[in-house]
Amino acid sequence: MLPIPASLSACAVEVLTTADALEKAAKSRRFAKAWRDGRAAGGAMPIGSAVPPPRPARPAKPDLLPPRDVPRRRPGSPQGRKALLHAVAHIELNAIDLHWDIVARFTATPLPVDFYDDWVRTADEEARHFELLSDCLHARGSFYGDLPAHAEMWRAAEDTAHDLLARLTVVPMVLEARGLDVTPAMIEIFRKAGPAEADAVAALETIYAEEVGHVAHGTKWFHVLCARHGLPPRETFHALIRQYFHGALKPPFNDERRAAAGLPPDFYRPLAEG
Ligand SMILES: [Fe+2]
Ligand SMILES: [Fe+2]
Repeated sequence: MLPIPASLSACAVEVLTTADALEKAAKSRRFAKAWRDGRAAGGAMPIGSAVPPPRPARPAKPDLLPPRDVPRRRPGSPQGRKALLHAVAHIELNAIDLHWDIVARFTATPLPVDFYDDWVRTADEEARHFELLSDCLHARGSFYGDLPAHAEMWRAAEDTAHDLLARLTVVPMVLEARGLDVTPAMIEIFRKAGPAEADAVAALETIYAEEVGHVAHGTKWFHVLCARHGLPPRETFHALIRQYFHGALKPPFNDERRAAAGLPPDFYRPLAEG
């Protein structure tokens, strides 16, 4: 087995430049454990300053298509449900890269070690989410890469690569918060399909429970940075989303789970469409 890179940002770059999806997930988990073990032993790995690539390495498959060209999913059939699992696996793989990118991208900003604890833990959880979905795909005679996937997932990272505050608003506080809105209906689709889909229900329930923490990490560090710069949080959130997020936020919102993540309605409701 290859040695653990000498700094946390070098670990991040190693994950980001790994193309194979299962290998990326395995490295994410292994490096997260090395970071945790170091922290528990009182000798954290140095953060370092390795430069992340502009775009993460990805496998040759799946084919990445513009969102309008990705075939529509009809979840009433086993094929449709398989496609849904594939789409979520694609989101989770992208999330692994997003969280390692935030670890390596902003090392010039002074941040407490807890910032790194939070995003390393989050990247570890995304890797497990990907593995759970990959297992579900295998159980259905499929695999990640079997179907085309959405090509524009990295756009939010590129748009906010120069601005940590903007990154926190667009990625955890908007995109991951949207996951809290849509996951319960997805769980229902698999539950209604009967016992053969129980593994998918269990995977999605794990994801749903853990994603609240990811949004919460976003809101926490957003508030820390607003306080540091004397910025009013709600107005700053609105201004950044209007500048960096393409389009309005889609209701209905999961107010309860969003609140559990520290995201109040007066942050997101004024940005909703309609
Ligand atoms: Fe996830
Ligand atoms: Fe997440």
